[in-house]
Amino acid sequence: QKDGYDTYMLKEINEQPHVINETLRGRVFEDKVVLNEIKDVDFSKFNKVYFVACGTAYHACLCGAQILERATKLPVITQVASEFRYNDPIIDEKTLCIYVSQSGETADTLAALRLAKSKGCTTIAIANVLGSTISRDADYTLYTCAGPEIAVASTKAYTTQLVLLTLLALYIAQDLHLDVDQDILNQLNDLPAYVENLIKDEELFANYAKMLKDKHDCYFIGRSLDYASVLEGALKLKEVSYVHADAYIAGELKHGPIALIEDGTVVIAVATQPHVAAKTISNIQETVARGADVILFTTENEEVNNVKNTYILPSINPLLQSVLVAIPLQLIAYHTANIKGCDVDKPRNLAKSVTVE
Ligand code: F6R
Repeated sequence: QKDGYDTYMLKEINEQPHVINETLRGRVFEDKVVLNEIKDVDFSKFNKVYFVACGTAYHACLCGAQILERATKLPVITQVASEFRYNDPIIDEKTLCIYVSQSGETADTLAALRLAKSKGCTTIAIANVLGSTISRDADYTLYTCAGPEIAVASTKAYTTQLVLLTLLALYIAQDLHLDVDQDILNQLNDLPAYVENLIKDEELFANYAKMLKDKHDCYFIGRSLDYASVLEGALKLKEVSYVHADAYIAGELKHGPIALIEDGTVVIAVATQPHVAAKTISNIQETVARGADVILFTTENEEVNNVKNTYILPSINPLLQSVLVAIPLQLIAYHTANIKGCDVDKPRNLAKSVTVE
């Protein structure tokens, strides 16, 4: 069942090139995105979009929301489902609500969906499990094609969510007769090959994990889309390896968290977004000056000095970088847990499907 891998988590990490390809299949054409499941939706009637989910799926929403907002200029709000359902959100029939859930059974996400329906919103579910409750309750469902995810820590569901949310953003822009970024459209089909190459550097990421194995804490920093990526990287690390990890917007460092940086503190930084990467790199220098051991993921376009562990990601459209950087962050979490002898597939206190609030 594990296809020769020691754990489901590692198997699922390795399945990503294939399942990303499956999620794209039949949906991306030379000059357009086709999502037949939502062809009847008139997107011009919406004046606001909500993205709602929990955990890793929420992190996928943070990325998807930025991509949608840039592509459509519609205001987008992203909220954790357990907040949305109790916060009396301002929503009506002009609100599009998008719910993301791998299992399709998460209690808070389902309750948040039902609330939106009761207020007359149009609801779209991004689900992975065919026939799951969310797919029955939502007005429309788009499926990620990740296949069964057994490991408690989500990996392939997350990256396929990112891909599908990107397609959704481009599709809505198309429906609104806006210019669709041809560059992203062309590069979407390159993602599986890039992901495959990143996985080949597993050994290198396992070496980064050695820097973390004896640490109690670790800090992740990033800006813009990279902030969503570091939130997910930190969640992955803490849930499987029990290393306490916090993710911060890099620009917030000097508003408090930099007080935590001392000699030997590990800082994992992501700087892939051209409009803010140099700013993040300058924040990194501030942590290096205080003795931090930094692991940096960036692109060849950025100038980096004094950071020993710099990994250069492939140069693709910045809006697609979250899919790529997810791979090393998953592998760092995996190998940290593995070195520490943790049960990566079944971390303590966690269930795969959270059906109670
Ligand atoms: C973390 C993880 C959880 C889930 C969350 C939502 O690795 O898997 O944070 O993402 O419980 O689950 P779904 O997507 O099934 O609604």
